[in-house]
Amino acid sequence: MSQTEAPVTIDEDKLMSFVFRAVDEVGASLNTALVVMGDQLGYYRTMAEHGPVTPAVLAELSATAEPYAREWLNAQAAGGYVTFDPEARTYTLPPEHAIAMTDETSPAYLPGFFQIAHGTIRDAPAIIEAARTGDGFGWHQHNSDVHHGCERFFRPGYLANLVSTWLPALEGVVPKLEAGARVADVGCGYGASTIVMAEAFPNSTFVGSDYHADSIAVARQRAVEAGVADRVTFEVSPAAGLSGEGYDLVTMFDCLHDMGDPIGAARHVRQALADDGTWMIVEPAAGDRPEDNFNPVGRAYYGFSTLLCTPSSLSQEVGLALGTQAGPAKIRDVTSAAGFTAFRTASGTPLNNVFEVRP
Ligand SMILES: C[S@@+](CC[C@H](N)C(=O)[O-])C[C@H]1O[C@@H](n2cnc3c(N)ncnc32)[C@H](O)[C@@H]1O
Repeated sequence: MSQTEAPVTIDEDKLMSFVFRAVDEVGASLNTALVVMGDQLGYYRTMAEHGPVTPAVLAELSATAEPYAREWLNAQAAGGYVTFDPEARTYTLPPEHAIAMTDETSPAYLPGFFQIAHGTIRDAPAIIEAARTGDGFGWHQHNSDVHHGCERFFRPGYLANLVSTWLPALEGVVPKLEAGARVADVGCGYGASTIVMAEAFPNSTFVGSDYHADSIAVARQRAVEAGVADRVTFEVSPAAGLSGEGYDLVTMFDCLHDMGDPIGAARHVRQALADDGTWMIVEPAAGDRPEDNFNPVGRAYYGFSTLLCTPSSLSQEVGLALGTQAGPAKIRDVTSAAGFTAFRTASGTPLNNVFEVRP
């Protein structure tokens, strides 16, 4: 310290309150794996169906070892995920938590969010190394919990919002879909959004595309299971290689910011879209300035941005690295650089911005 600098005074209370907040966060970090454990071992489903349990009962009903069930229950009770009755010595999953932890069709469903977070954290050593070298780390390089968790995280939101709210918010799109439109869903992953749209609009045909071959293999299987494979095809291609043209609607769900060259992708969408077509871009909810996103949603998404989406973009040509929290202004810039003239925020949820883009 130079002689002119004032000595820094440490407020011990502030220091300790920061440390105790961090202790809570360590518990929350470990809870990421505990939620995946409860999901995979059926603990939440068993509690939702059975009601109050002792560790012995949970262990027996789930065919797991009691010491694990006991410690897991105590961690869940300490974190407020389950309640504890000190007289009966039983643990209960409240009905609201049961919906969030077990109902895959509810927009409140959480295990997919934890699964993608858990998979993302497991690949952190590679990201730490990439940050040193400036290299990227592609979506295809991640473990399958990232891909599968992604589907389980986003699908409930598509079920709740896509057909009821997002598509009707776009000018003139629903009548076209009802009459029979051609749709391309770019960066479709496991095809959750493609299949939700195909189920709702039986007169329309759909092409889902993604550069990740393993995801497309699952998407094809999902289309067969949903009984829509006659109208839905999937192709392995980067966004800039989408086949076909004259599309009435091109959609991108939570993937534009993952691309290395979103402007190149946007130029290709412009070519592939009919002149009266619409490009719907769904991106994570975000404001334009970092400080607009210093809230719980922004915190989670900046975490994914650092560990998942930004490395994905950096792994591809151009490597623009928009970031998960790009915000409307940067997305608009991408579309106008590619020659689109109309851009507006058409809809949204606490987790999503939905943009309508037209030639
Ligand atoms: C966060 S996931 C979203 C997947 C899917 N849209 C959904 O909502 O479930 C991002 C997807 O973008 C895909 N992706 C990344 N870069 C791409 C590119 N340049 N061209 C096509 N797909 C790309 C990844 O393979 C991944 O499936």
